[in-house]
Amino acid sequence: MSTLTNLKWRYATKRMNGQKVPAEKLENILEAIQLAPTSIGMQPFTVLVVEDAGLRAKIAPAIYNQPQITEGSHVLVFAAWKEYTNENVDNYINHIATLRGIPAESLGGMRNMITGAIAGKTPEQLLLWNQKQAYIALGTGLVAAAEEQVDATPMEGFDPDALDAALGLNEKGLRSTVILVLGYRDAEKDYLSGAAKVRRVKDELFVRL
Ligand SMILES: Cc1cc2nc3c(=O)[nH]c(=O)nc-3n(C[C@H](O)[C@H](O)[C@H](O)COP(=O)(O)O)c2cc1C
Repeated sequence: MSTLTNLKWRYATKRMNGQKVPAEKLENILEAIQLAPTSIGMQPFTVLVVEDAGLRAKIAPAIYNQPQITEGSHVLVFAAWKEYTNENVDNYINHIATLRGIPAESLGGMRNMITGAIAGKTPEQLLLWNQKQAYIALGTGLVAAAEEQVDATPMEGFDPDALDAALGLNEKGLRSTVILVLGYRDAEKDYLSGAAKVRRVKDELFVRL
């Protein structure tokens, strides 16, 4: 099916049926998330892939007990980095150098650009910047899930402080930002299954200049 057909098929699934997402489909969705572009390219977030049913039940209260958490197959928690370390930057520069077969020293200008961009931001601005990058990955994951005919629910409806505590994210310098639940729709229980898609009309949404 075409991407547009798949995007019309997908919806933010409210009730899931507990069916597991096959490993190959999961890996394809994760790889699409890995391939999402980010500002500067540093991918300043970590994605926790929570499959364990006990752990999903444990974090459900922090996500206001939305039923998809326990009815779904995998809960992806996009957690933004709260800060950058010199090691993060060095690792990134060395990674580019290795993959592209160039000396790390030749990337000095880029290194300065990155450290300058980081130094110019307050901790709040830095977190917001990183969270925006996580949202790009979320969107990419949503499209990939639709292409795999896997249902998915993006979620902002959770208490980040409670979720960070439940997953021990503070100690890791991470902030829970947005969630993507993967699974399969329970068409009978889900009042939104088969509902018409509601979107602004193109003439309002796009201004063609
Ligand atoms: C960033 C984001 C956060 C959302 N948070 C929730 C949520 O916590 N729970 C939920 O059931 N749906 C949530 N939604 C689903 C939206 O309500 C839904 O995507 C929107 O109404 C468009 O409908 P559709 O995705 O079914 O086409 C969220 C969507 C996005 C993109």
